[in-house]
Amino acid sequence: MSRPTNDTLLRALLREPTDYTPVWLMRQAGRYLPEYRETRARAGSFLDLCKNPGFATEVTLQPLARFPLDAAILFSDILTVPDAMGLGLYFADGEGPRFERPLRTEAAIRELSVPGMESLQYVFDGVSEISKALKGSVPLIGFSGSPFTLACYMIEGGGSDDFRNVKALMYSRPDLLHRILDINAQTVVKYLNAQIERGAQAVMVFDTWGGALSTHAYREFSLRYMQQIVDGVTRTRDGEMVPLVLFTKGGGQWLEDIAQTGCDAAGLDWATDLGVARARVGHRIGLQGNIDPGVLMGSPQGVEAEVKRVLEDFGPHYGHVFNLGHGISQHAPHDNVRVLVSTVHEHSRRMRAE
Ligand code: CP3
Repeated sequence: MSRPTNDTLLRALLREPTDYTPVWLMRQAGRYLPEYRETRARAGSFLDLCKNPGFATEVTLQPLARFPLDAAILFSDILTVPDAMGLGLYFADGEGPRFERPLRTEAAIRELSVPGMESLQYVFDGVSEISKALKGSVPLIGFSGSPFTLACYMIEGGGSDDFRNVKALMYSRPDLLHRILDINAQTVVKYLNAQIERGAQAVMVFDTWGGALSTHAYREFSLRYMQQIVDGVTRTRDGEMVPLVLFTKGGGQWLEDIAQTGCDAAGLDWATDLGVARARVGHRIGLQGNIDPGVLMGSPQGVEAEVKRVLEDFGPHYGHVFNLGHGISQHAPHDNVRVLVSTVHEHSRRMRAE
């Protein structure tokens, strides 16, 4: 597969020169779009959307039809992986994800194993169908949860505000947590490699909960297993580089450690100043982020001013992919999204011309 017509995202992740700064948005296909809600209603539920390649393709393309985004991201969820391990994923109405069989006993942890990739075939079929539908226009980003973030949901059985079961295990039976993390890392390597095989042109690892750890614990329980992923993922296909992005939410203070893994780029949330971050890692990795998603709740003028600030924070270098610091709110007004995307494109072109 050759590079897409618009390869700005791939070039930025690989720190190659670009005419402007590429932009995509975490959760760009989601509830803030009425057409997404319409397709979801037709599909039945969120999981029905994820498990049907036709529907997944339809919603992946929706934000691209509205906004001139520089990438598509596979429509799926990080929790398809523990679902394939047999934990029984479901979404309780308005309460987020849950597992029927969380890992709460030593016996359950001992029984956990790397699932056959055929149980995730619907994801790979989605990747193929989306990549065909994109017709070489923009790159398709594949993704997975980080081993630690997946383990958080697998152990807690859903979201948590204190991760008390995860931490209980970490500080009483670290051997058992390491077993889960090792199985997750092996699974994620296979999962991402299969996505690349079927057409993903960049891959991103979402470590949403790594920031809940101490520095020592982050290195031992999260970063170490993301390192296994960086080492295990085949980052070329048909002679093209497939860049790999690591995103630890709340992980800005560990940026040097993240760069050290050999990933191509790091995602940053809005708490880290992009200019300071860039000065710390230089040209060694690309940076993706990091406007506060809350900016979209303000005025169009506010969006424009903040977008310019973030672009100028990063400065006149290559290697920046503009994104939100976390997922877009279901309440984000479309006009503000449009202003965000156009300001990124126009202002970054202007900065390059100066
Ligand atoms: O970015 C994209 O557009 C691609 C699709 C995508 C989804 N989830 C769709 C989704 C991606 C990349 C994810 C990743 C994901 N899923 C993460 C890591 C990123 C992050 O946000 O921190 C996590 C932690 C999950 C687990 C998950 N899935 C949660 C906590 C929730 C509920 C949160 C919510 O907004 O309701 C989901 C559901 C989910 N995943 C939705 C979407 C569009 C909303 C489902 C719906 O009601 O339609």
